[in-house]
Amino acid sequence: MKLEGKVVIITGGAGGIGKETSLLFASEGAHVVVADYNKELAEATASEVDGFGVEVDVTKRAQVNRMVEDVIARYGRIDILLNNAGITMDSTLVKMSQEQWDNVIAINQTGVFHCTQAVVPHMIEAGFGRIINTSSIVGRMGNFGQTNYAATKAAVIAMTQTWAKELGRKGINVNAVAPGFIMTPMTEKMPEQVLQGMKEKVSLQRLGTPRDIANTFLFLASNDSSYINGAVIPVDGGLSI
Ligand code: NAI
Repeated sequence: MKLEGKVVIITGGAGGIGKETSLLFASEGAHVVVADYNKELAEATASEVDGFGVEVDVTKRAQVNRMVEDVIARYGRIDILLNNAGITMDSTLVKMSQEQWDNVIAINQTGVFHCTQAVVPHMIEAGFGRIINTSSIVGRMGNFGQTNYAATKAAVIAMTQTWAKELGRKGINVNAVAPGFIMTPMTEKMPEQVLQGMKEKVSLQRLGTPRDIANTFLFLASNDSSYINGAVIPVDGGLSI
């Protein structure tokens, strides 16, 4: 068991990658807090793990603070925060609405700031913690139609590196994963032709699975990665090379 007794918060813990990770972490002995703004899915996922589901919108600081207080009240500590909640609202630069820009920044960037800022004082007090952020290959390479999304995923890399520098001395490792194209509800809405085009660009010639990402999250959450700090690990089948 790589996470025996660890208390973990997974934002977006009921979505494609999040659910797979919630189940994997629970199978490795963790208490998993499935934090998601989809209440029914959060509760359904939580019913399959040792932990609980909580309805939370990461863009709302008060809701995030309340969730963290609930977790502390129940377990007395938070060992691992996985910032995984994220959305896309694609449009080319010329057509992108203010709302598309604001919503994606609020969830993918400000949400990561809210959750990390709320959790870190408890980790500092304990002298131990793991923060894992979810970037994307597009945070490094950009992507057609994703001005907003790519900007947030680049911001996630910058926050990861900044927090690694600030928090390493407190016993807290901060790392990120940069997935490539992964088959989840986020990508399932894309046309078959687009998906086929994506596969052809990947040197392994397939899209990733939620398990491919969950395995890397597990590595970063476990003691196997204890000397890794400020890293951004691409999990993209060779798409970015
Ligand atoms: P998904 O759409 O399957 O799951 C996202 C989850 O986040 C959903 O359960 C949703 O309810 C939750 N969520 C959305 N807004 C929220 C909010 N304001 N507060 C709390 N929860 C919220 O997406 P998927 O594919 O599992 O993505 C997970 C992460 O991986 C995201 O950060 C995404 O940007 C990133 N990623 C995904 C890739 C892919 O190809 N699927 C590629 C690169 C990165």
